[in-house]
Amino acid sequence: MTRRSVRKFTSLEVSDELVEKLLRAAMQAPSANNGQPWHFVVIRDRAILDAVPLFHPFAQMVKEAPLAVLVCADTGNARSPDYWVLDCSAATQNILLAAHALGLGAVWLGIHPRQERMEKMAPLVNLPEGVKPLALIALGFPAEHHAFTDRFKPERIHQNTW
Ligand SMILES: Cc1cc2nc3c(=O)[nH]c(=O)nc-3n(C[C@H](O)[C@H](O)[C@H](O)COP(=O)(O)O)c2cc1C
Repeated sequence: MTRRSVRKFTSLEVSDELVEKLLRAAMQAPSANNGQPWHFVVIRDRAILDAVPLFHPFAQMVKEAPLAVLVCADTGNARSPDYWVLDCSAATQNILLAAHALGLGAVWLGIHPRQERMEKMAPLVNLPEGVKPLALIALGFPAEHHAFTDRFKPERIHQNTW
């Protein structure tokens, strides 16, 4: 209920232990046929992070983030190949919720289905053939806090039939 996108970060480093907690949460996500097609690239390299806003118009905050996690799928190995986007989206949301629970801030930066972003992101982190990037998550300790906004809309709920 209180998770919001965080796009401003302090300069505090995020420990490997905290990052492992995020990735443990990610890998507990549900996936079609329990296929778990996900892979995660933890990016702390400043040169790689700074390159992202050069091709992604809505990723300026990556320049200030101490790290980012790229959520990818090995589509060649996926047991249910049509489901990798859904599986990796579930893993992405788990990371956002775990980050919030641990006092971190995070924002989902869309890569898939924008072909150009996928093509620019993949070589930056040496993704092998068949491994597709779904989302980049910018992470850090939050330097902004957003108030709760109530998005509940009773008219969007339908009982038994529409
Ligand atoms: C598929 C997807 C792609 C997104 N891409 C971006 C992005 O490129 N840049 C960004 O700043 N936020 C991005 N967001 C975050 C949304 O803007 C944000 O979730 C939405 O405005 C609702 O705000 P909240 O996350 O604070 O609740 C993305 C979210 C999703 C689910």
